[in-house]
Amino acid sequence: MTSPKPKLETLAVHAADFKELSKDVVPAIHLTTTYEREEDGSYPQGFVYTRSENPNRNALETALTALEGGDGCAAFSSGMAAISAVLQLLKSGDHVLISDDLYHGTRHIVNGIMARWGLEASYTDMTDVKEVATQLQDNTKLVWLETPSNPLLKIIDIEALSKLSHDKGSLVAVDATWTTPVVQRPLDLGADIVMHSTTKYLGGHSDILGGAVIVNDDALMEGIREIQLLGGAVPSPFDCWLLRRSLQSLPYRMRGHCENAMAVASFLEKQNFVQAVHYPGLESHPQHAVASKQMASFGGMMSLQIGDDETSPDLAMKLAANLKLIVRATSLGGVESLIEHRASIEGEGTTTPQNLLRVSIGLEHPDDLIADFAQALESL
Ligand SMILES: Cc1ncc(COP(=O)(O)O)c(C=O)c1O
Repeated sequence: MTSPKPKLETLAVHAADFKELSKDVVPAIHLTTTYEREEDGSYPQGFVYTRSENPNRNALETALTALEGGDGCAAFSSGMAAISAVLQLLKSGDHVLISDDLYHGTRHIVNGIMARWGLEASYTDMTDVKEVATQLQDNTKLVWLETPSNPLLKIIDIEALSKLSHDKGSLVAVDATWTTPVVQRPLDLGADIVMHSTTKYLGGHSDILGGAVIVNDDALMEGIREIQLLGGAVPSPFDCWLLRRSLQSLPYRMRGHCENAMAVASFLEKQNFVQAVHYPGLESHPQHAVASKQMASFGGMMSLQIGDDETSPDLAMKLAANLKLIVRATSLGGVESLIEHRASIEGEGTTTPQNLLRVSIGLEHPDDLIADFAQALESL
């Protein structure tokens, strides 16, 4: 009898197993930057210099490849380094079509640095795949999206969009930071490139900065590997070790984030002052059907609009100030719940409504999170 294909929880724990001579169950941290040659000048173990390869980074990349169902992964020192590596696959004069609601750093690097190097870009609402068909140009080489998007949690049909983009000769990249492979696997749905800020759920404890790119095509992998090696934005062995350790508990952590978020969103939807709850698990979400089709669960992120004046931050800021348990801070995906007035951090030119708060639901008990929101709303 052949053994069954390991499930995600098992892969998370064992996919990156590698045994040292000492047979440690927990791998050692390889701080070395260089490796000794044999007398004939060869490197039979394959390790030459840590920017090109390191056992801890290899283990992390192996684990992420297995979890995403890809063929290869390159780990980076931040999510932004991973985004910039994908964009550097393109050349001057190429066009990238980008979803209109997304992490503001992506918009800044595309409109600033990449534009200076001749990359063309435009933005469109990708919830309507037919509309996307009209926006693809002859020189569109990459379609870049987030689903759920940041901060409005719009849902894009990855399968339909990938088919359309491939027919027109474009690759599809998904920034999967908000979902992780536990919630959604873009490569299975037809995307070509998965990118993560591993700083968020994959790290899971708000203490590691990192990024990753996973692909299922050898030529793409070769391109990304070259940028990783020559660009040099690689994570340290210690960060790789920590991150690989975090991955081992990812499926169970994500389950908690998703269950808690569903409970909190269902509560908030019924409260006074809460004009809108953007969460794809709610039946009221406009793309709930697409989310149910492509997501295994609905994630730990949501956003709220407080009061009906989209131009005023006052009520939203007051609600955030009233919270006692949920922490006012940027970022997401950690064990602690975080809340943020998004327009403030996005700064000039933001299109995010001023009454919007983005919430990263952590692993506290959902009753305590609901009680915190209840008392904060009561004191408005
Ligand atoms: C969706 C998304 N992508 C990319 C990034 C950038 O990642 P990093 O901060 O690790 O560079 C972030 C950071 O907030 C993010 O939320």
